[in-house]
Amino acid sequence: MSQKAQIGVTGLAVMGRNLARNFARHGHTVALHNRSYGRTKELVEEFGHEGTFLPAETAEQFVASLERPRRVVIMVKAGPATDAVIDEFAPLLEEGDMLIDAGNAHYADTRRREAALKAKGLHFVGAGVSGGEEGALHGPSIMPGGPKESYEALGPLLEDIAAKVDGEPCCVHVGPDGAGHFVKMVHNGIEYADMQLIAEAYDLLRQVGGLSPEEIAGTFSEWNEGRLGSYLIEITAEVLKQVDAATGKPFVDIVVDRAEQKGTGRWTVQAALDLGVPVSGIAESVFARAISGGVQEREAAVSAGLPGPSAGADHVGGDLRADVEQALFASKIVAYAQGFQQIQAASKEYGWDIDPGAMAKIWRAGCIIRAKFLDFIKQAYDKNNELPTLLVDQYFLDAVAGAQDAWRRVVVTAAQQGIPAPGFSSALAYYDSLRAQRLPAALIQGQRDFFGAHTYQRVDKPGSFHTLWAAEGRPEVDA
Ligand code: 6PG
Repeated sequence: MSQKAQIGVTGLAVMGRNLARNFARHGHTVALHNRSYGRTKELVEEFGHEGTFLPAETAEQFVASLERPRRVVIMVKAGPATDAVIDEFAPLLEEGDMLIDAGNAHYADTRRREAALKAKGLHFVGAGVSGGEEGALHGPSIMPGGPKESYEALGPLLEDIAAKVDGEPCCVHVGPDGAGHFVKMVHNGIEYADMQLIAEAYDLLRQVGGLSPEEIAGTFSEWNEGRLGSYLIEITAEVLKQVDAATGKPFVDIVVDRAEQKGTGRWTVQAALDLGVPVSGIAESVFARAISGGVQEREAAVSAGLPGPSAGADHVGGDLRADVEQALFASKIVAYAQGFQQIQAASKEYGWDIDPGAMAKIWRAGCIIRAKFLDFIKQAYDKNNELPTLLVDQYFLDAVAGAQDAWRRVVVTAAQQGIPAPGFSSALAYYDSLRAQRLPAALIQGQRDFFGAHTYQRVDKPGSFHTLWAAEGRPEVDA
């Protein structure tokens, strides 16, 4: 009987190629397919020694080389290309076979695809894969959604290739239909917020502290040994250490200061708005990228000479670097708290029953936001899976309590010196809003009732009420 593959990958650009290699390196026979057969042949020629590959020239040959239930990993650009591949392969598959979309698909597309393929007796698994090309080869964090029963046949293979922490794979069945891609999307949103906060810390140390990129790299390297230790902090030190070969200048100074985005951070904010979850940290990071790309407005502002503060006061109080470290940690806690709140809200909305602690657990390695910090998030949810916000978990409550004076000093300095710090300041505003005994939302309710008769509730009795603002004496009536 001709040899059969346990899993197949179609779409052999770098991510797909590296996933295929990772499966092969773990002893699995891997079927290969690509729109152009040349790339398939190249993979076998270059990496055939790493394991057993079954290259297929056609979709039919590819499907025929797979053992049942067939597991087809799709690694193509999110969007119409994914639908095209599904349309090509679905007719060739049989009851119980599965298609696994490992791209950064929008979770709503995944829900649609999963429902359509379920009607045909096929499993569709939207799997978030984080860690970039290196992660795909050496061990990503994998967030598979889709039917629970498909995880029985698929999970062991994904867990083989996933990153490990203390021998435990950074892969778990997230929940049904689009749950996996939703969690990956929020992972990316948190990634954006984390990157924005790090960028603000750098900017303050540079502009207010007068440190050079190399000195700031040293600071990030130090921070990477402590509670801020993470992949993003580690690579930030590397980027800031880099000197541009062509000019001899710091690399960061020759890069155009316009941040781009493929869109997953934006999706996170759009989804949060629909769910009513205030992911202000993620939103500010998306807007900050948009502002940086707003060439026309920025050039107009500069040429109009929009004035900044008069000579900025020095950083009041503590040591700037120590204060910025505190502000960064506190703001990061807020950003992650908001991201996890969004996951919990979506889990309730879609009936996904996602375990937040398990998400923290599989993010401890392999993914872009991997960090020591995630151990504490896992512990927080292991203690209380219904935690309304991470900020009330004792570890994080104490950490923010200890950081808040420095955090406030940093936000004051940024404002006084005209340095944009939307991440630090919005996180502080979120924290203060959360802990406020009374918010000015009461006045907003009054305004809404005045112009739109939208009614309000009272603090001293149940029900909804409306004031007849135009009537004599402005009497209040039950709404
Ligand atoms: C990951 C990354 C990855 C992301 C790219 C581009 O988890 O490996 O998040 O999925 O798409 O880093 O991100 P942006 O272009 O949106 O910044």
